[in-house]
Amino acid sequence: MTVIAVISPKGGVGKTTVAVNLASAMAENGRVVRLVDMDPQNALRLHLGADPGDVNGLVHQTLQQSSWYYTEYDSAYGVSFIPYGRVSEVERITFEAYLSQTPNWLRDNIAELDHDPAGLTIIDTPPGPSVYVQQVLSIANLVLVVMIPDAGSYATLPAIEGLLDYYCAHRSDFYGSYYVLNQFDAEHPLNRDIKNVMQNTLGERLAPHSIHRDESLSEALAFQQPAANYAPHSQAVDDLAQLAVWLENKVARVAR
Ligand SMILES: Nc1ncnc2c1ncn2[C@@H]1O[C@H](COP(=O)(O)OP(=O)(O)OP(=O)(O)O)[C@@H](O)[C@H]1O
Ligand SMILES: [Mg+2]
Repeated sequence: MTVIAVISPKGGVGKTTVAVNLASAMAENGRVVRLVDMDPQNALRLHLGADPGDVNGLVHQTLQQSSWYYTEYDSAYGVSFIPYGRVSEVERITFEAYLSQTPNWLRDNIAELDHDPAGLTIIDTPPGPSVYVQQVLSIANLVLVVMIPDAGSYATLPAIEGLLDYYCAHRSDFYGSYYVLNQFDAEHPLNRDIKNVMQNTLGERLAPHSIHRDESLSEALAFQQPAANYAPHSQAVDDLAQLAVWLENKVARVAR
C-alpha cells in the first residue's frame, strides 16, 4: 500500500482536480487506486458522479465508531472513493477535536481497509496547514504539492518545505515530495518565468510535465466525471496522462 498526499499552500489551485484525474489515469494504467477526501468541502466525490444528496462519509463513520468500509464507493471510472461527508458545524468541530486527540486515526483506518501491497491511496486535503494535513502528512509515502505559476504561490515554498520537514523528512517510509504546476499558460511570460525559477529551485522535485490551463477540466467537473472521460483529447488530459506515467514510476519504486 502506498499513500500519496495532495496538498497546497493556497486554495483553489487544483488539488482536487489533480487528485481525481491523476487517480483515474493511474487506474486506467492498471493500478488499484482509492481516493480519500479529507476536506470539509466534500467536493471530491462530485468529480466522480456521486449522488449529490448522499451525506455519508468518513466523518459520520468516525463519529459512529464505525468502519470506513461502509463509506467506500466504487465509481464508474476505475477508482473507489471515500467522501468526507456532509456534516453539520457541530459534527465538524467534534470530528476535528477528535482528530487532534487521535493522531493515528488516519493510519489505523487506512490499514484496516487496505491489505493490497500494490494498492494506492491518494488523499485530497484542504489548503494550508490543518489537523487534516497534519494526519495526512504524518503517513504519506509520497507528497504532491500542487502550485500555480504565480509569484504568490512561489512565495509559499518555504512554508511548505517547513511542513514537509516537520512531518515527513525523518520517516523511513517517506520516499519524497514533488511539486506539480497546474493551470500553466505558456503564452504568459510570467508563467514561464515562474516555472523556470521553480525548476532552478526544486530541480528534479518539480514534475517534468505541467498541467496547462484548460477549460475542459472545469467542464468535466460540471458533468461530474474525470476529464479523460469528458474530453479525452484535451491538452490537460494529455498532460495528466504523462504525469500519471511519471508518478507511476515513483510509486513502483515505493511499492517494490
Ligand atoms: N488546469 C486547469 N485549467 C483550468 N481550470 C482548472 C485547472 N485545474 C483546476 N481548474 C479549476 O479550478 C477550480 C479549482 O479547482 P480545485 O477545486 O481542484 O482546486 P482545489 O485546490 O482543490 O481547491 P480547494 O483549495 O478549495 O480545495 C475548479 O473550478 C477547477 O475546475
Ligand atoms: Mg479541493
